[in-house]
Amino acid sequence: MNWLSSSSTAASTFLSPSALLPPPTHGFSSVTFKVWKKKNRCIRKARRIEISAKFVLEPPPYPLNALEPIMSQETLEYHWGKHHRTYVDNLNSQIDGTDLEEKSLEDTVVISYNKGDFLPAFNNAAQAWNHDFFWESMKPGGGGKPSGDLLKLIERDFGSFEKFLDEFKTAAATQFGSGWAWLAYKESKLDVGNAVNPLSSDEDKKLVVVKTPNAVNPLVWNYYHPLLTIDVWEHAYYIDFETRRPDYISVFMDKLVSWDAVSSRLEQAKARMMEREKEAERKKREEKPRSSEPNPEIYSDSDAELGADE
Ligand SMILES: [Fe+2]
Repeated sequence: MNWLSSSSTAASTFLSPSALLPPPTHGFSSVTFKVWKKKNRCIRKARRIEISAKFVLEPPPYPLNALEPIMSQETLEYHWGKHHRTYVDNLNSQIDGTDLEEKSLEDTVVISYNKGDFLPAFNNAAQAWNHDFFWESMKPGGGGKPSGDLLKLIERDFGSFEKFLDEFKTAAATQFGSGWAWLAYKESKLDVGNAVNPLSSDEDKKLVVVKTPNAVNPLVWNYYHPLLTIDVWEHAYYIDFETRRPDYISVFMDKLVSWDAVSSRLEQAKARMMEREKEAERKKREEKPRSSEPNPEIYSDSDAELGADE
């Protein structure tokens, strides 16, 4: 899946959700595909008239009926086919003719967040990114328990997988109104103007659970790397679960989470963090000689004297 235009990919600060995953292998039968194709005929037609639009609505990496009976095709048709589509369409209208037109989706999210004083494009940009990330956080036959480094980190930072589950479910259930719950990998950095931050040790980097209102996501706080999300807007679960949000959250964790995707994102986050540390070290080395140079102010008096003598 490619959210980004070719001109903006290289300049992207963050990886697109799809960049963190291997190409989707749908693996569905021809019968299923025919049903899916028929159901989406109108959506595919609509995509053809978006040729000049920068961001394109891509389908989830599985057929719309692949998550049944847990998440129904009807839910996906509304959630992806209408809500997600609207965010992308609105975003394309909002950035048309603005500086944001040249930015990646990730950069658009961060720039339009504008330190909490949202620019008009923020909500649609963030919702477009969040939903793509959400679809890829699930897979048919998902759930269960992760393994490898991801499980070790979860056990280190939450005490046990069960304690992590409790914390994540509580965050998702207690997000007031619309929003999202996240598992993120947080770099340990002081976010203070003049602070001199020593490089983090491995133990400083932690998995954290956070919840965000409306469209906000952890990309907007530098040093947070999102790994997993659940959409707790009512439109995500009302058709299948009505008002029973806790039931939706439980079944999402038990039967839908793609731990493969989360593990892959963790590896990408580690690589990104290593790049940042190398870049910080390089800058530090470059700045050192300059700090040992004489202060230009030392010469200011003599300059003034010269000026006075003239
Ligand atoms: Fe949603």
